[in-house]
Amino acid sequence: MQITYFGHSSFLLEAGGKRILLDPFISGNPLAEKVDVGQIRCDYIFLSHGHSDHVADVEAIAKHNPEAMIVGIWELHAYYSEKGLKTHPMNKGGWWEFDFGRVKMVQAVHSSSLPDGSYAGSPAGYVFDTPDGVLYFAGDTALTMDMQLIPLTCPPLDLAILPIGSNFTMDVHDAVLAGDFIKCDRIIGCHYDTFGFIKINHHDADAAFSSNGKELILMNVGGTLEF
Ligand code: NI
Ligand code: MN
Repeated sequence: MQITYFGHSSFLLEAGGKRILLDPFISGNPLAEKVDVGQIRCDYIFLSHGHSDHVADVEAIAKHNPEAMIVGIWELHAYYSEKGLKTHPMNKGGWWEFDFGRVKMVQAVHSSSLPDGSYAGSPAGYVFDTPDGVLYFAGDTALTMDMQLIPLTCPPLDLAILPIGSNFTMDVHDAVLAGDFIKCDRIIGCHYDTFGFIKINHHDADAAFSSNGKELILMNVGGTLEF
């Protein structure tokens, strides 16, 4: 699986022969100013929830990727399909077989509404079970006991993307516990440093994970990793 980081909580996964974009918030992110939104090519756009720091570039990217399918909870599907965009609705606990692998929508503890005030259902995370690996994208969430259901109901995770910036989501220490809950020792951090409320100390974050036998990966914006 190839993973490219576009800053904040936005990633491009290349798995099962498809390009899967997560939570595109790029043009409004000063840390991602080198990323050209107009150059992003994707087959899917998966959304964790409706907040602007996760959906800001959805419509622009969908317009120049007319075949791309937006995947989100029912209410996000309704919002974007009303705008004439291609969507697939899901809800918590369900799996769906896509052409790159299957995906389960899982619990996230956060809030959700769209930038124009529209109701956006509730926030979610996803488990991607692909021929190139199994990945959990937590979205914006607090630490929650429900994470313990993931290893009970999904194949073993190769990798997880967890928020670590605190204030709006889990902090680093809760993310270490989340790693225990989901039985995954290899974590990519997200939702940190973008704005003042979520600035973190990278050295302390690394130490919190490594002292618990876990690896924290903080990707460079625009950087790509192969797993
Ligand atoms: Ni949020
Ligand atoms: Mn957020």
